[in-house]
Amino acid sequence: MRIIRLGLALAMAITLAACQKGPAATVDGTRIATADSSNEWLSYGKGYSEQRFSPLDKVNATNVSQLGLAWYAQFDTDRGQEATPLMVDGVLYTTTAWSKVYAFDAATGKLKWSYDPKVDGNKGFDACCDVVNRGVAIWKGKVYVGTLDGRLVALDAGTGAVAWSVQTTDPKKPFTITGAPRVVKDKVLIGNSGAEYGVRGYISAYDAATGKLVWRFYTIPNPTGAADGAASDKVMKEKGQATWPEGAWKLVGGGGTVWDAIVYDPSLDMIYFGVDNGTPWNQKERSGGKGDNLFVSSIVAVKADTGEYVWHYQVNPGESWDYSAVQPMILADLTIAGVPHKVLMQAPKNGFFYVVDRTNGKLLSAKNFVPVTWASGIDMTTGRPIENPAARYGKDVDLQMPAPLGAHNWHPMAFSPKTGLVYIPAQQMPFAFQGEDGFKYKPGAWNLGVNLLANATPLSPAQTAAMAAMIKGSLIAWDPVAQKAVWTVQRPYFWNAGVLATGGNLVFQGAAEGQVYAYDATNGKQVWSYPTGNGVIAPPMTYELGGEQYVALMVGSGGGGQVSAPAYLPKRPRLPGRLLVFKIGGTAKAPDFVLPAQPDIDLSKVTTNGDPKHGYVVFNNNCQVCHGANATGSWLPDLKRSPLITTAQDFNSVVIQGVKAHNGMISFSRFLKAQDVEDVRAFLVGQGKGDPLPVLTTVAQK
Ligand code: HEC
Repeated sequence: MRIIRLGLALAMAITLAACQKGPAATVDGTRIATADSSNEWLSYGKGYSEQRFSPLDKVNATNVSQLGLAWYAQFDTDRGQEATPLMVDGVLYTTTAWSKVYAFDAATGKLKWSYDPKVDGNKGFDACCDVVNRGVAIWKGKVYVGTLDGRLVALDAGTGAVAWSVQTTDPKKPFTITGAPRVVKDKVLIGNSGAEYGVRGYISAYDAATGKLVWRFYTIPNPTGAADGAASDKVMKEKGQATWPEGAWKLVGGGGTVWDAIVYDPSLDMIYFGVDNGTPWNQKERSGGKGDNLFVSSIVAVKADTGEYVWHYQVNPGESWDYSAVQPMILADLTIAGVPHKVLMQAPKNGFFYVVDRTNGKLLSAKNFVPVTWASGIDMTTGRPIENPAARYGKDVDLQMPAPLGAHNWHPMAFSPKTGLVYIPAQQMPFAFQGEDGFKYKPGAWNLGVNLLANATPLSPAQTAAMAAMIKGSLIAWDPVAQKAVWTVQRPYFWNAGVLATGGNLVFQGAAEGQVYAYDATNGKQVWSYPTGNGVIAPPMTYELGGEQYVALMVGSGGGGQVSAPAYLPKRPRLPGRLLVFKIGGTAKAPDFVLPAQPDIDLSKVTTNGDPKHGYVVFNNNCQVCHGANATGSWLPDLKRSPLITTAQDFNSVVIQGVKAHNGMISFSRFLKAQDVEDVRAFLVGQGKGDPLPVLTTVAQK
């Protein structure tokens, strides 16, 4: 009785304190460190360990069939939705594309406030993989968001008013931010993206109260060889510089951005972050094909207070395929061969599942979780991959698995301490790598040193069928100790959503076809599904409020897979993003989406002054990354069906004058001549009429 009374008093005191100081006022390191056992969702991956496992079990196999919609919200953007909502003190915070922030009453769905950072639409061009945002961080009454144009903004958790805002990047460079900040010991941690274009990556720590920079760690040496006055100076001098001999990196930036995973272990006081691929992708261009290129494609551990280097593990030394190691990381305690280990687990793009001792960076195991062709395995004595020599592409085309979209991308995986399994949203896709003839740095454009046209060359019907059969998506329940899949659910499409695991022994995942599913965590048996009407890529999260368990997720297709490979995804136009929140017995109904009418165009009388063969080359080198190889897409406008290709004037208004720049379709006048643009139009008109793809003699055919 006494304990209950004490507990009640304590609960009242906390509520009172929260009321007096405003919502989320008591979110601090202790609360986030113990979030694994909490009914809330306090940080991007739930708590510092980022297991995405909630102990909540009110929703379980016996009642999940009655899970229905409790409430929903619809947003004003139809681009990709990647955020994980957080739920603290009864308020649910989420973000949408274009870095907008929303706060809802988590029980009723009533909007409390919203914040629009008013990102310039032109900035959309610098986002390789859609204008997405993965969510906020919360600390002592403030909500933090990184914006697409590189700002870190602190908002009052109660009102959404801006407390402070800092520019974390050089606005003249093609940096963007899509990742969620994390807060550790009164420091807000934020990285950035832009490695396809050419930037030098880093992670920064800002004072949570004032926005003052505390430390910064560059992942690539300073091209002048000078010190930056940064936390990384010492390790760059001792280890980094020597791994970067000659090559284009000094001009292009080297890449190595920190655009997603940042995790923290309070017991070791270490921060772990993942580092992106190198720029240009092609290591032969980047550093003359020599050197490991630290810290490209690495997991790096630093001290929380100072950002000083502790250890690193490089998954791809001398990386050359866009195989980044920024993918989500999970911290857990595992017993391997009878020995307990504090581990860090990651399934980066390259298709291997890594278990690393997080006290010292020593590799404990690495095993491929999907078929890969670039390496036959990982050498356990050196920790280095055993590469297939053909993977180091040059003049010859190397059709390789995984593709740059990765065997696993940013879509968060989950770990259930109950089953001991990691649930991986996995992807399989081949990509034709070929070196670019005469690479030249183009500031502001994509700089890969790879001939993207090789990935868009005509295939025979048999090759097309073989290629389509290689493209798969799956949810894999992976045993990280035994290093094997325990069960696998095959998906109809390759680009699916992040995962949630719960104490109710359930695993939740949304999928490209427009469904969200629940599975028995032990055997993968499907126990629930719900039609979302639009593709899902964001992970679900869960919380308990007023004795009721809720499951929430953002709905809205988009992201890198959707923009660059729309041919392999459902033919669906862009639809407004939604937040769906479920509970047992929920009876709310979200209206069906209104599908915009597909314009019917007649190309029979359309003529151009362009050369479709050259247009084919220009298109695939400049437009493929957002409109799909050979304009096979339909999510961003299907250009071969666009009314705007019928006259040069209309086409130029978009591609040269930039009338749609406010939506992220900038003017290409910086990069293309008027005749190039007319040639692209000729190519698109030809494709719209059903012409075969041009055959080029200079491009190796596969
Ligand atoms: C960074 C991504 C990106 C790249 C690269 C890109 N586009 Fe776009 N494009 C977009 C977006 C986003 C839209 C939709 C804009 C809107 O909603 O108004 C679009 C729309 C268009 C449209 C309007 C179609 C219509 O029916 O409304 C045309 C034409 C177009 N793009 C041509 C091109 C061409 C040609 C290239 C290459 C030279 C190219 N785009 C490269 C993102 C891109």
